[in-house]
Amino acid sequence: MIDFSLRADHPSNTKTDVVAVAVHDNQKLSWAAEDLDKASKGALKAALKSAAFSGGCGKLLPLFNLPGISATRVLVYGAGEGKVLAAKDARATGRGLAAAAVELELAELTIFPLGEDAVSAMQQMVMGVSDATYRYDETKGISAKPKPSLKRVRFGMPEAAAKAAPAALKVSVATIHGMEFTKYLGNLPANFCTPTRLGEEAKKLVKSHDGAALKVTVMDRKAIEKLGMGSFLSVTNGSDEPPRFIVFEYAGGKKGEAPTVFVGKGVTFDTGGISIKPAPDMDHMKWDMSGAGTVFGVMKALAELKPKQNIVGLVVACENHINGKATKPGDVFTSMSGQTIEVLNTDAEGRLILCDALTYAERFKPRAVIDIATLTGACVVALGSHNAGIFSNNDALADSLIASGKKMNDRFWRMPLEEDYQEALNSNFADMANVAGREGGAITAACFLWRFAKKYDWAHLDIAGVAYKGSGKEKGASGRPVAALVDYVMARE
Ligand code: BES
Ligand code: MN
Ligand code: ZN
Repeated sequence: MIDFSLRADHPSNTKTDVVAVAVHDNQKLSWAAEDLDKASKGALKAALKSAAFSGGCGKLLPLFNLPGISATRVLVYGAGEGKVLAAKDARATGRGLAAAAVELELAELTIFPLGEDAVSAMQQMVMGVSDATYRYDETKGISAKPKPSLKRVRFGMPEAAAKAAPAALKVSVATIHGMEFTKYLGNLPANFCTPTRLGEEAKKLVKSHDGAALKVTVMDRKAIEKLGMGSFLSVTNGSDEPPRFIVFEYAGGKKGEAPTVFVGKGVTFDTGGISIKPAPDMDHMKWDMSGAGTVFGVMKALAELKPKQNIVGLVVACENHINGKATKPGDVFTSMSGQTIEVLNTDAEGRLILCDALTYAERFKPRAVIDIATLTGACVVALGSHNAGIFSNNDALADSLIASGKKMNDRFWRMPLEEDYQEALNSNFADMANVAGREGGAITAACFLWRFAKKYDWAHLDIAGVAYKGSGKEKGASGRPVAALVDYVMARE
């Protein structure tokens, strides 16, 4: 794990393996670059000139022999024309700087952000460093790479940002620890990351934060039957993997204070069941537990940050598979709420497991319930992979989540939640069907869940498009939307 900290020395007096300072368009120096230039008697400016450094965002220039400064090396990073780096550029810069430090096999990187909005830039840079240094190696076998050299990242903050920086850094570091945990669970293959394993990971998480007022209950099939979660259990019919219902309770607030409840879809593999999925890219369905992974990541970050709030994390974990006992299209089941459901498509399983968790959430008399799920391909068609979909019965709740998403560049786009769409879920044989037609598939899925979320303020996050990259060098879990949700909680402190 990388150690992040703040330091107070001037850029030129900073003893470190590599110091990173910003230069704008037209080789205009930032405050930190100015300091290095002065100490080196103009050698920095001369080096920029001979390298014809453009200053564009994303550009990097390593310098090795700058006289008069304490650092061994310098990395100049481009900051464009503005006084602040956009969130996306700051993250990419953090990523680029960390990657360069790793390439040079250095242990310590010291970054000086721009003078304005330095705290936000630092937060994004921390995420960028995580992007560049996160490794999945659990099942890589003999091709697993050695751990990256980078051990310490320090931020030298301008005077005006010094006060807000420590708290912000703490939140960011906890956030990337959460995101890296979410990525780890997501990237684990489905033969490793079973519902049973998720239950074990939940207990391990609580154990490793034993000072944090965090506890967990892991329920097995028997306990789930006792709760009457007939809809959830219908999805487990075709699988040999036993299900788990995991309840995290974090008690940082006053006793009896209404908690925020997070609910995560934890389908550890989604074959589609009898309504089987096509073969191409079916491996992606190991990431169908990314909502659950998000709840794990958020709980980890919050256990580290210890906010003065009560938080509940519910994880519904099972496998959607096929055998002789598997649910057949047309089968009807009774949910925990008492409402019956005709399962017309066994591949619309996410809503079937979430609806019972939403009913379970009522017992906490929550201030808000937020579910997170890789729920529909239709949401990916609608929004692509930059924004997750957000559906909510409460404007203020939606607005707060959207604001946190914007701030962390972990965005949500509001989608309609309206009674008009409910009719399509009508069934002649049950209170509702689990699917409507192809039209508005993400919306009708949300409308299904809405029928179980009538007793509290609720938001549904459809993260099918954002939870992972499905191909290429970057193929893997993204850790989204942990950053937005941690910010959402911490903004209430
Ligand atoms: N897990 C899928 C949704 C999904 C699709 C996630 C693509 C990530 C990428 C979900 O269980 C599912 O299969 N949904 C169906 C619903 C349909 C049967 C109404 C879908 O989107 O096709
Ligand atoms: Mn499915
Ligand atoms: Zn699914």
